[in-house]
Amino acid sequence: MQELISFIKQAVLQISYELKFPDTSYEKSQNHTGDTQLKFDILSDKIIEKTLSQCPKIKALISEEKEEMLLINDEAEFIVAYDPLDGSSLMDVNFAIGSIFAIYEKSPKASNLKAAVYSVYGPRIELVVCEDVACLYRLNQKDEFVLIKELKMLEKGKINSTGGTQKNWDKKHIDFIKALFDEGYRLRYSGAMVSDVHQILLKGGGLFSYPATKDAPKGKLRAFFEVFPLAFIIEKAGGKTSNGENFSLLELEFNDIHSTTPCFFGSNYEIEKLLKAYT
Ligand code: AHG
Ligand code: MN
Ligand code: MN
Repeated sequence: MQELISFIKQAVLQISYELKFPDTSYEKSQNHTGDTQLKFDILSDKIIEKTLSQCPKIKALISEEKEEMLLINDEAEFIVAYDPLDGSSLMDVNFAIGSIFAIYEKSPKASNLKAAVYSVYGPRIELVVCEDVACLYRLNQKDEFVLIKELKMLEKGKINSTGGTQKNWDKKHIDFIKALFDEGYRLRYSGAMVSDVHQILLKGGGLFSYPATKDAPKGKLRAFFEVFPLAFIIEKAGGKTSNGENFSLLELEFNDIHSTTPCFFGSNYEIEKLLKAYT
């Protein structure tokens, strides 16, 4: 696993170099989920594909920017599913964005997740790596990722990070989000899931939600390379997750590699409150 993670670190480092002087324009193409692709979405995907293809432990790659799974080495044991650039709609405004990686053993299934990693390209380059515990790393001047600390969620937070177009929320979601604000929670939402969840993880609590909406009844965020890896990290750090009905996003199973799901990530208090409000 350490060897595989070292290839992920190389790819993240290269993306971070390219982000210093990027081309922020769009391609004419769309990806599987219908998002118009940025030149940088494609470049990040190419960097990751090229770097991870050299890792002998990787059987196949699943990418947000690729229609199909890419087979690399049938004998190898791990499938890496990744979002090469999360929050790419924020590239033009220079907000923090990131890359997300899920490492599945044998086949892509939440119960086969062995590790998850994400990077944050912000004022600093940070990496969260999680096998059994979630660990925060920062890039130093020698281009090494240095361990900063283990990350732990508290029982309750103060942040309400709530996605989806409000006019398309249903009544129970409107009431639940309002109840959190009435209790004193503060709005913190950038539009890059990776940075918004990173904030909750580093502050130790709060809620990130991207609910089912009238225009996206199955949610917007994609299970294999956005939702499962971040759910794995939040739960290993002692937090909770749900799709609004269940007790863990990691119970969900999907066949299509681009499947989406409503999702909620938080500390214990907020997810318990969600389940009371939703069910
Ligand atoms: P991506 O940039 O990989 O397409 O992902 C964007 C996702 C996620 O990062 C974010 O939470 C959400 O889309 C934002 O959607 P809204 O613009 O609808 O808030
Ligand atoms: Mn994304
Ligand atoms: Mn993306």
